[in-house]
Amino acid sequence: MPPPPWKTAWIVGASSGIGRAVALRLARDGVRVAASARDAAALEDLAAEGGGLITVHPFDVTEDGAATRVLGEIEATLGPVDLAILSAGIWEPFRPDDIRVDAFADSIAVNYLGAVSCIAALLPGMRGRNAGQIAIVASVAGYFGLPKSATYGPTKAALINLAESLRTEMDGSGVAVSLVNPGFVATRLTEKNSFPMPFLMQPDAAAERIVKGLRSRRFEVAFPRRFTWGMKFLGTFPYPVFFWIVRKFVSRR
Ligand SMILES: NC(=O)c1ccc[n+]([C@@H]2O[C@H](COP(=O)([O-])OP(=O)(O)OC[C@H]3O[C@@H](n4cnc5c(N)ncnc54)[C@H](OP(=O)(O)O)[C@@H]3O)[C@@H](O)[C@H]2O)c1
Repeated sequence: MPPPPWKTAWIVGASSGIGRAVALRLARDGVRVAASARDAAALEDLAAEGGGLITVHPFDVTEDGAATRVLGEIEATLGPVDLAILSAGIWEPFRPDDIRVDAFADSIAVNYLGAVSCIAALLPGMRGRNAGQIAIVASVAGYFGLPKSATYGPTKAALINLAESLRTEMDGSGVAVSLVNPGFVATRLTEKNSFPMPFLMQPDAAAERIVKGLRSRRFEVAFPRRFTWGMKFLGTFPYPVFFWIVRKFVSRR
């Protein structure tokens, strides 16, 4: 495998799960990784495993101005970030008998506006350098509305839409926008799921797919393919057929 095309990566949501596994995967390839999330102790543990290539930059993506401040600190010490992976996210199963508006607001604040804040921090520098890659971690749950997903799914649909818009907007700027749509990955986030999760993957395997996909600079990195292609196919059916399939195969789980 040729050396990676990045010198410095910023991973937001690196303290656990997918972001953590990608941080270690990139560090193994010799990429310097600036690791962010709220839990500083978990980031220190990650850095201890990173062979001196992972540095710790804790912040909360919902705090006003924090992404810009932290990116400034990272670039002052490590130089320009040429890959950013925006993986911070929360998942709250939707319960129709207990609809909490604050849970919707929290999901939008972390999953959607958190990514927007990081993008707003990153774009001026990347556009000025005519270089860089931003990977937005959404989900196959953003393809269409599914049971239990009413709080989370719309934030991921918004991220997919945002990535599509930005991809065209950045044409010719030298800045690549990538969309990462994982299926089910065994992390803290999916621990609370009581339903069966088809094609569940381990974080290391997910990190492998993500890094390979981002190296290719293709727009969408979606995996595992058997699952994501099935989901895309489901989305092509007219609504009566779509809802019949969802009722028969998803709602009963
Ligand atoms: N696991 C799956 O099956 C799956 C499938 C599709 C998409 N995804 C997406 O993949 C991404 C990573 O999820 P995961 O499965 O790896 O879950 P995870 O292990 O819970 O990781 C989530 C990460 O987001 C960070 N985070 C949460 N709130 C934050 C905040 N306010 N500010 C900064 N960082 C924050 C967490 O760190 P702190 O708590 O330390 O802040 C953690 O590092 C998410 O965007 C998720 O929606 C996951």
